[in-house]
Parts: sequence; C-alpha cells; structure tokens
Amino acid sequence: MSYKVIDSATLNYKDHNYSLPVVEGSEGELAIDISKLRSESGLITIDSGLANTGTCFSDITYIDGEKGILRYRGIPIEELAAKSTFVEVSYLLIYGRLPTANELATFRHRIGHYALIHEDMKNFFNQFHSNAHPMAILSSMVCSLSAYHPELLKPDQSPEERDETITHLLSKVRVLSAFAYKRSIGQSFVYPNMKYDYIENYIHMLFATPIEEYVINPVVKRALELLFILHADHEQNCSTSTVRMVGSTKTNLFAAVSAGICALWGTLHGGANQAVIEMLERMQREGGDYRKFIERAKDKNNPFRLMGFGHRVYKSYDPRAKIVKKAADEVLENLHCKDPLLDLAKELEEAVMHDDFFIERHLYPNVDFYSGIIYRAIGIPTNTFTVLFALGRLPGWIAQWKEMVEDPHMKLCRPRQIYSGETERHYIPIEER
Ligand code: SDX
Repeated sequence: MSYKVIDSATLNYKDHNYSLPVVEGSEGELAIDISKLRSESGLITIDSGLANTGTCFSDITYIDGEKGILRYRGIPIEELAAKSTFVEVSYLLIYGRLPTANELATFRHRIGHYALIHEDMKNFFNQFHSNAHPMAILSSMVCSLSAYHPELLKPDQSPEERDETITHLLSKVRVLSAFAYKRSIGQSFVYPNMKYDYIENYIHMLFATPIEEYVINPVVKRALELLFILHADHEQNCSTSTVRMVGSTKTNLFAAVSAGICALWGTLHGGANQAVIEMLERMQREGGDYRKFIERAKDKNNPFRLMGFGHRVYKSYDPRAKIVKKAADEVLENLHCKDPLLDLAKELEEAVMHDDFFIERHLYPNVDFYSGIIYRAIGIPTNTFTVLFALGRLPGWIAQWKEMVEDPHMKLCRPRQIYSGETERHYIPIEER
C-alpha cells in the first residue's frame, strides 16, 4: 500500500479548530482522514450513498472517472482485455502480480481439480421453484458451500487455508451457475471436465448434453473470456463494498460473496444488464420509438431511468462499454447473427449522446449497456445475464476480501447515523390510545 499524509485540513466549528490529516494515494487522489473526528469534536459526517466517502485504501483497482481510466494492479484494462485470460487476470487481482508460466499452470490445475461440488448439493437445485431467478439460486448455493466445507470457515485462516477457500470458490461457482441453468431448461447436469480450461469448461457445462458433446466455438469462448475480464473488478462498487462489509465481521468467504451476489442483483448495479435488454425489448414492442423513453427518463416525476446509462464514478464513457460495444459487432458478425436490439441500442446511444439533459449530467453508456447483446447472441437467457456478471466479478470480490482480511488494521465495518426520530416518550397502555 502506498499512501502518505501530505498535509492537514482545519475544520472550524464553534470557535474550535480541528486539524485533520490529508492523505494522498499513489495516483495523487486526496482525502481527509476523519478517523479521529468524533473522538476530538463529537461530530460525525453524513454522506448519502457514500458518494464522497472512501472506505479503505486499496492496491487492487484504479479508476479515473473523468478520464475513463481503469487499471487492475496498474495494468490498463485495454491491455488485459486484448492480451490476457480470465484465469490470469484473476491471479493478478488476487495475488497482486502477473503469474509466471508455472504459477499460472498450477493455479489453473488447482481450479480444474476443485470443480466438483458435493453430490448432495445437486438435490438443492430441484427444490427451487422452476422459475426461480438464477441470482437467488447462485447466492443460496454459494452460501451453502459453507455447509460442505466446514474446514474452510475459520475466522482467522492461514494463507494456505485462504488459498484453498479461494480456489474452491473460483472453481465451483461455474458449476453452480451451469447446474442452475440446466435445471431451468429441464436438462440433466453436465459435469465439468478437466480437459477444458476455465471458460471452455463453463461453456461445456452450459451447452453440452449427455448425448451430445458441445463443440466449443472460439468466438463464444473469446466473447465470454473478454466479458469476464472486463467485469473482474471495479474498486469499491456496491457489491464489493458489501463483500467487504460482511467479510469485516470475520464470517467466511462463501457468506460474504453470497451477500455480494445479492447486492449485484439490483437493477441499479449488476442487474442493469438484464434490465437493459428488457428495456430495449419493450422499446421494440412499442414500435421502436426510443425518444419516448428518453423523455420519460428526463421527467423528474417519472421514476424511469435509462438502463445502462450513467455511473457513480465514470463521468465520461465507461472504458469497458467501449470494448463491449466493439465486441458486440464482432461477435454478431462472426456468429452470423443479426440482432435488431443492437441497432436500436446504437440509435438510443446516439440520441442520448446529443441530448443536453444527459450531456449536462455526464451520463454515458456503462458496462451493462451492450453486454446483454453479446450474452443473447451466445444463447444465454436474459435472467442469467447478471449471473455472468457475478462470475466475472468473483475474482475482484475475492481480491478485495483478501486485501481486507490480510490488513493487520482491519476493523469491523459499522457506520454511525444521525437519529431523526421521536425524542423520549413513554409507553401508553392500549386502553388509553
Ligand atoms: C454498474 O459502481 C460501479 O462501479 C458499478 C459497476 C461495476 O462494475 O461494479 O460499474 C456496474 O452497476 C453500472 C451501473 C448500472 N446501472 C444502471 O445502468 C442503472 C441506470 N443508472 C442510474 O440509475 C444511475 O446512473 C446510477 C445508479 C448508476 C448512478 O446514479 P448516481 O451516481 O446515484 O447518480 P444520481 O442518481 O444522483 O443521478 C445524477 C443525475 C440525476 O438527475 P438530477 O437529479 O441531477 O436532475 O443524473 C440523472 C439523475 O436523475 N440520472 C439519470 C440516469 N442516471 C442518472 N437519468 C436518466 N437515466 C439514467 N440512467
């Protein structure tokens, strides 16, 4: 971790001056450290949605929202998207550097080796309602892994035990997702096979059947590899902050990630990739008049938002969205499929990019705007899009959890509040109310 105290800020309140340290990170970001504010002044800060509050120092991912920069452990996302693999990026995020060839081979083998889930867990899938949302299944099954690996639940794990837990989770989450998909289409489960690499194995489990091997289409494999890399981490987004908050109680990694999956599910976050396609389908059903939707989104009295646009951090084009948009064209061309929703999405983007309401608010397409087009083209059902976001984000959640639990100064995450309810009053017997 490289940050330093470079200055101090003075807060003047009721004729008393409070000096607060100003810290600077490795990319020049500045923050006022308020750790001692309450003990010295009795004051706390309030920051709705934590939009102006840093919750940790982190070495993992750097985002410059104004310049549209995203780097994992210092390496630009554009380079990793073009040259790396999802397993290599996972190693980079979790262990802090690119692996040697041997380290990568060992990591790959361990992940392949840990793919089987306990046979009893298969019964769980049949107990879910047939149209249960796959995010509900994924979150439940990831937490249920804790019931089958009691040896991995210790609150203070050794580095070796942590690595075991991490590898089990990275490997098994694909199986849980694929089995949920198979259950939803009434097909029998297809087991992982160590002859495949990470992404191939997932595709195999999704699309092979007991009577027919699925020939891995390199276009599909490359598309998933790219999308997983692009989703792998994104500093302190809502679901990652959830994993950190839940993990700060010293619960196990399975429980913390299960909570992260639930946070990601929301349409303001990872659930937006499903909501984008549903929005485009509705536009299409209503005759393709996207301008009506744009006007609805601009109406202060209308809760409707344009799904896939806007971002808490990016006030310029999300660098991931640029890459996904280009990949969507390539994937559809290589798979020889046309999707009218892609043309509609591009028309919508063009109109939004020239609308003052969105320009003034720096609202650009985010990572969720075009990703669903690719998932559709490779045959993923819409309600499973956010599951693939979760699979991609898993190494980031793990890396952020590991960074936190390895921090000797780790503290339980417990925010304060300002109470605004009734002042003291007394119980009134029911006959007197
Ligand atoms: C992800 O944090 C991450 O890093 C997340 C993520 C990751 O990788 O983990 O990048 C993944 O979650 C991407 C975001 C996916 N969500 C969506 O696409 C849902 C649609 N977007 C919005 O709901 C919104 O943009 C948020 C939730 C993403 C961000 O909202 P903020 O930062 O809380 O901003 P805001 O709601 O205060 O909006 C500021 C203004 C408001 O207008 P005014 O009150 O100033 O007049 O912009 C408007 C908003 O009404 N606005 C939108 C809009 N997003 C913001 N208006 C119409 N459509 C939108 N999509």
